[in-house]
Amino acid sequence: MLKVLFIGDIVGGAGRKAAARVLPELREQYAPNLVIANAENAAGGFGLTLPVYQELMDKPGIQVLTGGNHIWDKKEIFKDIVNMPLLARPLNYPKCTYGAGFVLLDIEGMRVAVVNVLGRTFIETPLDCPFQTMDNFLRKTPADATLVDFHAEATSEKKALGFYLDGRVSAVLGTHTHVQTADEQILPGGTGYLTDAGMAGARDSNLGMSAEAAQKRFLTGLKAKFDVVENGVLVFNAVYLEIDVQGKCTKITRINLAEV
Ligand SMILES: [Fe+2]
Ligand SMILES: [Fe+2]
Repeated sequence: MLKVLFIGDIVGGAGRKAAARVLPELREQYAPNLVIANAENAAGGFGLTLPVYQELMDKPGIQVLTGGNHIWDKKEIFKDIVNMPLLARPLNYPKCTYGAGFVLLDIEGMRVAVVNVLGRTFIETPLDCPFQTMDNFLRKTPADATLVDFHAEATSEKKALGFYLDGRVSAVLGTHTHVQTADEQILPGGTGYLTDAGMAGARDSNLGMSAEAAQKRFLTGLKAKFDVVENGVLVFNAVYLEIDVQGKCTKITRINLAEV
């Protein structure tokens, strides 16, 4: 059986600290044999660098990282991504030659695929259709269990992909909004679903960033620099899933640690 711990967007040093702090206990409680985290904001709130990739692999011991619209924010990733074999960046960037959109693993005799796709609603990037991208992926990459990180803004797009892939993948787990939703369910075909896993980062913040910058943007219409809130109480949001040998989700449990 596959026991998966999937962590929402890790935001900056605060998010990395939260993950490192709680993972030993969660490992004891759930004994996961696969730990995945979304790392698009892991380096200073924007993007991912090689040292941060290595830190996340070493200290909290995360096995697979996923991305999103911010994954390219630190420009060094374009040269360093070849040294990040356990990162799945969004699969549906058209003709993207940097990195791969999925990671394949062998866990207890099961061939496991972790895929990252990006939504198109309210995301200003020209992307291939995530639905058709997943159709093509599943045709070309059969696996015993497929876990999808659907990084998207709109709840309706996330639900639509969840039901679209129901019975064909083991789980569709949302990321990007940094706010955990409470709608976890096992869909009729046996796919575990959660609209958004949430984040790891500072509690007293605007999605992990300082509230002042967001307020300035809304109040003035001008750009303001976002800084990660690194101090204070930390939150840790994740989801735990059990997947049977047929690739069906048999259990889904939300994890929302409000004071880490
Ligand atoms: Fe994010
Ligand atoms: Fe995002």
